[in-house]
This record gives sequence, structure tokens and C-alpha cells, in this order.
Amino acid sequence: MINASHPLPPQGRGAGGVGDPRHIVIIPGDGIGQEVVPAVVAVLRRLLPDARIVAAEAGFGAYERHGTPLPDATLAACRGADAILFGAVTTPPDIPNYRSPILQLRQALDLAANLRPVRSLPIPASRPGVDLLIVRENTEGMYSGIEEVSDDGERATTLRVITGAASRRVAHTAFRLARERRGRCTIVHKANVLRQTDGLFRRAARAVAVEYPEVMVDELLVDTAALRLAQAPEMFDVLVTTNLFGDILSDLAAAHTGGLGVAASANVGISIGLFEPVHGSAPDIAGRGIANPTATFLAAVLLLRHLGAHDAAARLERATEATLASGLRTPDLGGTATTADVCAAISAAL
Ligand code: NAI
Ligand code: MG
Repeated sequence: MINASHPLPPQGRGAGGVGDPRHIVIIPGDGIGQEVVPAVVAVLRRLLPDARIVAAEAGFGAYERHGTPLPDATLAACRGADAILFGAVTTPPDIPNYRSPILQLRQALDLAANLRPVRSLPIPASRPGVDLLIVRENTEGMYSGIEEVSDDGERATTLRVITGAASRRVAHTAFRLARERRGRCTIVHKANVLRQTDGLFRRAARAVAVEYPEVMVDELLVDTAALRLAQAPEMFDVLVTTNLFGDILSDLAAAHTGGLGVAASANVGISIGLFEPVHGSAPDIAGRGIANPTATFLAAVLLLRHLGAHDAAARLERATEATLASGLRTPDLGGTATTADVCAAISAAL
């Protein structure tokens, strides 16, 4: 169960063998990122005593201190890393030309696929029997960043860019992961309306599927996929889709297993992986010591797997789940525990 749950391709530079010195960059970010990341780093240091673990700045705090949300030193550190653990950042809507550092990192590091595992957890809020993985194209689509507004402000356009190369790349990732899991992959699109863009995405994914005869491939229109994900998430193994659809569907799916406090994701490229909780900086609860650290611990599980540290990943995953099962829960899961309580329990359960 443990290894089938959130498998990642063994493509990290550290994956060559146990004992390779691994280089991990930690970006706590803003708000609750600052509250949950330190305890996770302490656990990573215990699990990987030989790893080189360095901290770097990004986010709104970095902008206030350095005039940019992604300082050059941070980008340089990330380029040299095997893996990055990213907490959460605040992105102010009203500063012109401000670009979220996470979007910049995904593009700069060519993190072509976003992986969102959604799996049942031992908490009342979680529906049993769910174990699916959403693989989302991470660099183009509706998030190409190419937007325009007319001079009178009455007409705005966003360019939805789909390329065959990016579509094939994310399809390869999805089918490879499906092969390591239960061997099923659903291509999600809206090619009946978005005939050119999703037509290309669908054709590209279908062409790649031929190379994975052991994977059973089907397809769904995105609206039908949303309905089925809401009604019967147990029927899915891997889903592969474009950027915006994947963003929305993965939040929807996360609702089945406890929500933002427990949802983690991976951004993977050729060799570097960036691992993060799905949630943001949560300004409404920041500073109160009640943020749920589970999502960031589960992001660290994905990071450890990416580095090939499978035993450490399994230990951390078991400790995190045992803590949830013990009933020690933060307020988002209906409990009264603090962030520190949960971190201490997970650390002790290791
Ligand atoms: P959010 O994820 O920060 O919070 C949404 C709701 O979920 C809030 O009520 C929050 O208290 C709760 N929540 C989130 N994580 C939680 C946790 N670990 N434990 C307990 N409760 C938790 O999203 P929101 O409020 O839309 O955005 C806040 C800021 O975060 C914005 O500046 C936004 O741009 C940024 N953001 C950053 C992301 C990232 O760093 N990848 C992702 C999403 C938003
Ligand atoms: Mg999202």
C-alpha cells in the first residue's frame, strides 16, 4: 500500500544509490509556511543525515526585504538542487508585475508535470477507498501568462497555448506512473469545444499511449470527469490533463480526503523535483500556531521518494498517518491540537 500510493519516477539525481549526498533547498515562504516547514526540516535532517539541506527565501517577505519575490540567489540555489521543499507564499493581487515565485520556479526549472496524489487517510473527513493521482501539465495551457486587456478595459483575452511537445511529455509521465500503479489512465479534455487546443492535447496523449500497451487508457470530457470525481472517485487510478483543468479537478478531488490541510503535490522535471503542500499561506490563521502540518509532511514523503530514499519515505508516511489515526488533529480536521502538538507526535512516531 505504501509504495503504490504516491509513486514518483526514480529520476532524482540522488536516486542512483543510497548514500549519495543529496542537496535539498528549503523555501519556507510566508504565513503558515514559516510555521510548518521547520518541524518538517528537522525530521528530514534525521532521516537523511548526510544530505546537504540549505534554506532560501521567496515570497512576499522576500519581496519586502529584497524587492523581488524570487531573489537570484534562491533561483541559483534551486538550479543546483536535487529537490526543493516549498512551504507557501502570499501573492498580493494589487502589486503590478508581481509574479508568484512558485509559477516562476515551475517555468525556470522546467517542472513540466504537477502530480497530485489523492488517497484516503485515517480521519473522519476522509472517504475510504480513494487512491488516485492527477497528473497536470504545468507550464502552458491557460496559465501561459499571455494576457491582454483593451484600452477601455472592456475586453480581456488570455491565450491558451497547447504544444505537442509539452502534451507528449506530460502524457509520458502519466502513463509511466500508471504502469507503476494500477495500470489505468484517463485523458481529461474538452476537445468537443476546444477543438484546436484540446484536440492537439488529446491526439498527442493518444499517440504516446501506444507506447504503453500495459496501460488501459480511456478518456473523459472535463465536465463529466468533474461529476465522476465528485460522485465516484474510487473508479480512478491516474488522470492526465491540461493546466487549468488539472488545477480545478485536483482541489475537487482533495475534498474527499480531508482538504487543504492534508493535500501535497510534486512538480517534476527532468531531474529536479519541487514538493509542496497544496495550500497557500493561510493569512486567516497565520501566527496562531494551529496550521495543519500534515500536507507539508506528506510533501516531504514525496520528496524522499524522488530522492530514492524509499525506506525513509515509508517511515515518514507511516508516522504521519499514525498520528492522524491517533485522533490528534488540528482544528481544520475538527480537533483542538496545535501545529506543535502534531509535529511532536509525528517526530515521536518515527
Ligand atoms: P489558502 O490555502 O492559504 O487558505 C484557504 C483556507 O484553507 C483558509 O481558510 C486557510 O485557513 C485554510 N488552510 C489552508 N492551509 C491550511 C492548513 N495547513 N491548516 C489549516 N487550515 C488551512 O488559500 P487562500 O486563502 O486562497 O490564499 C492565501 C494566500 O496564499 C494568497 O496570497 C494566495 O495567493 C496564496 N496561495 C499560495 C499558494 C502557494 O504558495 N502554492 C497556493 C494557494 C494560495
Ligand atoms: Mg490550486
